[in-house]
Amino acid sequence: MSAIKIAQDIWWVGAKDPELRTFDIIMHTPSGSTYNSYLVKSDSGFVLIDAVKETFTKNLVENIKSVCSLDEIKYIIVNHTEPDHSGALNLILKDCPNATIYGTNAAITYLKAQLNREVTHVIVEDGQELNLGNRTLKFAHFTYLHWPDSMFTILKEDRIAFTCDVFGAHHCWNKEPILHNSNDLYDEDIHNYFVSIFGPYHKYIRNMLAKTKCEDFNLVCPSHGCMITGNSWKQFYEHYVQWSKEKAKRLTVVVAYASVYKFTKMLSDAIVEGIKSAGGEALVFDLEKKSGPFDATNALIDSAAVIIGSPTLVADAVPPVWAMLGRLNPQVHKKKVAAAFGSYGWSGEAVPHILERFTQLKFKVVDGLKVRFRPTPEDLNKARELGIAVVERIKSEN
Ligand code: FEO
Repeated sequence: MSAIKIAQDIWWVGAKDPELRTFDIIMHTPSGSTYNSYLVKSDSGFVLIDAVKETFTKNLVENIKSVCSLDEIKYIIVNHTEPDHSGALNLILKDCPNATIYGTNAAITYLKAQLNREVTHVIVEDGQELNLGNRTLKFAHFTYLHWPDSMFTILKEDRIAFTCDVFGAHHCWNKEPILHNSNDLYDEDIHNYFVSIFGPYHKYIRNMLAKTKCEDFNLVCPSHGCMITGNSWKQFYEHYVQWSKEKAKRLTVVVAYASVYKFTKMLSDAIVEGIKSAGGEALVFDLEKKSGPFDATNALIDSAAVIIGSPTLVADAVPPVWAMLGRLNPQVHKKKVAAAFGSYGWSGEAVPHILERFTQLKFKVVDGLKVRFRPTPEDLNKARELGIAVVERIKSEN
């Protein structure tokens, strides 16, 4: 592979990772990913914008060398220092003796801690410009998109924005890196990425959109997936506006369960009836489906409550239930209303264990319902009452 020209004197020099199926341990990536790095030629020398994962350093170096030698790089811009974008710097900096690193204060701090050494650097302020002769770089700080270190780098004259994770998608494109018109698969990948990475940071996305107009840029170059332009840029900009909108508080309850012999599912169905009868909306997820824990956790961001069901297996909740509980975060999901339920045969520890986890997460715990084997009509009534109690608790909290 060699560099791919994406505009006049601008090249993609990143790496492709088509086989990636899990990112950052937690994110399912069925379309693989790319680590996008960009090389810009200017009167003042070459600029490298972001790097790649350390394991892909060879790809980055090969691609850069198809355009220039490493010692011709004068500027290295670190928009964000999560190691999928900074890892390769550990190996290539020694071959870039003429390069100065530019980043936010947090980015330089984190980078030095990742490399365990000093680096030649400049800390850039929000709005600061760097004159490269025929081109100008402008830096725009966007803290918490999605780390404290994050910023955009904008080529002013070209109206090209390098946005790192923002507007990115875990999607490994085939031959054509620039997306003019989107498609269903890319839409799904960029949405999943938005939910997973920026779900906790909608307020910061809204701030970014208030400072950034769609018409500001001709081409947007994120650090994962395609570069976007034309219709796709307009479409994704509008998606970001919609996805990040403040949601009105709703009586929405995530009901997520695993069920071996359908007894726990019977309880789930009755709980859903109760939720609906109280005027609530139930979003139901089968946690045994591969994407179940991921989908249910994401749905909870905009929901008011969660009710999790598990049978008891060898004195505990079953693994798919723990997969969801492990995704819940005290920062992102705190103060949700919560309850638990489940059918058991011998001892029934699953429900108290789930409730204990809810307490650790600082959720507002309503109740737990555990039933021995097949629920009786009385048990199903209790399940309906649990659904009602959860909705009433949401109402009382608002
Ligand atoms: Fe793609 Fe936040 O790293």
